[in-house]
Amino acid sequence: EGLNALARKAGLLYFGTAIDNPSLNNTKYLSIAYNTSEFGQVTPANGQKWMYIEPSRNVFNYAMGDAIIKPAIQNHQMRRCHNLLWHSQLPDWLTSKNYTKSELIGILENHIKHEANYYKNECYAWDVVNEAFNDDGTYRNDLWLWTIGPEYLELAFKFAKKYVGRGTKLYYNDYNVERVNNKSMAIASMVKSFQAKDIPIDGLGFQAHFTTGKAPSYDEVKASMKQFTDLGLEVAITELDVRTTLPDSDEKQAQQAKDYAATVKACKDTEDCVGVTVWDFWDPLSWVPDVFSGQGVPCLWSANYTKKPAYYAVAEVLRD
Ligand code: G3I
Repeated sequence: EGLNALARKAGLLYFGTAIDNPSLNNTKYLSIAYNTSEFGQVTPANGQKWMYIEPSRNVFNYAMGDAIIKPAIQNHQMRRCHNLLWHSQLPDWLTSKNYTKSELIGILENHIKHEANYYKNECYAWDVVNEAFNDDGTYRNDLWLWTIGPEYLELAFKFAKKYVGRGTKLYYNDYNVERVNNKSMAIASMVKSFQAKDIPIDGLGFQAHFTTGKAPSYDEVKASMKQFTDLGLEVAITELDVRTTLPDSDEKQAQQAKDYAATVKACKDTEDCVGVTVWDFWDPLSWVPDVFSGQGVPCLWSANYTKKPAYYAVAEVLRD
């Protein structure tokens, strides 16, 4: 049995993976990605981001998103849709001009309206806002904050609610929130203030981009999840990977396996943690080496498509 089959027996809704558009011509890769015993859920790694969806103002192109979402629908894999608002991968027309506050609010609503409507009823969840906080718990200083102010977060969730399908879960998604720390506490405060004002929010996405030997422990992840489940939200591990300083070794792979297992177990043991998504499953396609030089091999399958110790450790945790 694969990871998704085991996850479902363990009471999770899914075990899933991100898929990026360039992977779609690799048949060996796809034979694993579309094996629903391994993966019951798919997230587009890039295809639904603003620069691809709205490349010119009010011109929408869903080709890259559809290339990932449509086969997943056909294949009865759940979809986490990613994302409606982020500071990164924005189109030039949006970043190279100074819009007024009311113009930018209009642009935000128009984008969310089109994209959420287009994918209506096709997404189990939407990452409505991605990575809006700094590690110290302050708001990220990006064009949304400069131009609109912190209320852009509330507006994004209100707009999303207006246009998504009934039942689509609205998530806030971020990294370095897998411990109780300034960032995760600030986000929990935001959730409380949303709830006090009736701003809709259903879930908290824990990206879980970790480093071998430095990942949070089982207890730390559970404690951080509890901050949100105590507020009535569901949580999910949305982008799990564990990067290693190269060259790799058996010792490092053994440590990486423990790090993967601790987080998956924390989700499994948290009643309102709905599932785990890895940020791709095959080492050669990972985003890590492009961003962290000298680091890599963060996935469950190695370059020659063998399952790594981390794969077996995750399977073991789910089987327990
Ligand atoms: O589309 C261009 C292509 O035309 C060009 O030839 C090529 C040359 O480098 O670049 C392509 O764009 C790349 C894009 O991915 C699509 O493949 C960008 O350079 C590259 O920076 C971009 O990286 C993505 C990254 O987000 C951007 O920040 C990664 O693939 C994607 O996995 C990563 O995903 C993020 C999540 O959305 C949010 N959380 C963190 C996570 C990892 O960074």
